[in-house]
Amino acid sequence: ALISMRQMLDHAAEHGYGVPAFNVNNLEQMRAIMEAADETDSPVIVQASAGARKYAGAPFLRHLILSAIEEWPHIPVCMHQDHGTSPAICQRSIQLGFSSVMMDGSLGTDGKTPTSYEYNVEVTRRVVEMSHDCGVSVEGELGCLGSLETGQAGEEDGVGAEGTLDHSQLLTDPEEAADFVKKTGVDALAIAIGTSHGAYKFTRPPTGDILAIQRIKEINARIPNTHLVMHGSSSVPQEWLAIINQFGGDMGETYGVPVEEIAEGIKHGVRKVNIDTDLRMASTGAIRKFFADNPKEFDPRKYLAAATKAMKGICLARYEAFGTAGNA
Ligand code: G3H
Ligand code: 13P
Ligand code: NA
Ligand code: ZN
Repeated sequence: ALISMRQMLDHAAEHGYGVPAFNVNNLEQMRAIMEAADETDSPVIVQASAGARKYAGAPFLRHLILSAIEEWPHIPVCMHQDHGTSPAICQRSIQLGFSSVMMDGSLGTDGKTPTSYEYNVEVTRRVVEMSHDCGVSVEGELGCLGSLETGQAGEEDGVGAEGTLDHSQLLTDPEEAADFVKKTGVDALAIAIGTSHGAYKFTRPPTGDILAIQRIKEINARIPNTHLVMHGSSSVPQEWLAIINQFGGDMGETYGVPVEEIAEGIKHGVRKVNIDTDLRMASTGAIRKFFADNPKEFDPRKYLAAATKAMKGICLARYEAFGTAGNA
């Protein structure tokens, strides 16, 4: 059934677990997420980015998610719009039937330029007002995703700040977070703790100086009743990185957010964990390997099934590690 993010995360908070929010662009991702949820009895957040809408088209995305709800009616599903850059974009998603939207006012309408605190409060507050009227939940973001090693957002294309960010922009301030939540009324708050979107998050396995799990604890101590969201939470599996490179890929050395660190965040108020890159890597690795192992094969369903299986493996592992399993 389609439910709001608020409903889902309230349950998660009550029972002390986190919910992975997987980005969806196509049928294979959707099936991987749902088959794994079905097997582990997990509630699901599926989220669509602006890039996903551009790739699949809004009606296809909408019906892809609705089809999942129809096929697995016993699984609670939140249909979330990821990184909306304006109230108008959030409004369109609400009209499309999304049960949750993210107003990312930490960046301007170009999705790149860091904004002022006042601007962020104003656009987020407006979206909360319009969304709550129709039972839709809202995620806001305070602070900019980006690397504490380099000050860069991480991704060359897609969602992320442009230019170099300073330390105060890269770490959400607990006092400001409390003020932001009070002024906007958001249901969930995305925070900046040194993660960034994409595969190139850390040049070495992260330690506390570049992945600030401690900051989550400080924010949670200040606003214990606010559901926290971690973006850029892919773990960048070393085994999939190796498979990609073994079968003709050329990805550089890189590290993601260890699953154990996310589990630690979940102990301190993190309820929604955004993951896109891990499914992309599993999918690409599986397809590269399939082509190498089966050079005569030309039926796309064969290699796409391999991709679905690989992505499903990631989903199963996250539902288990985050305590989502058993809570559908
Ligand atoms: O927010 C970032 C997600 O990974 C979405 O990426 O904009 O390429 O769909 P995308
Ligand atoms: P990753 O790139 O780490 O998967 O993050 C995805 C994300 O935060 C989507 O909003
Ligand atoms: Na989001
Ligand atoms: Zn994000």
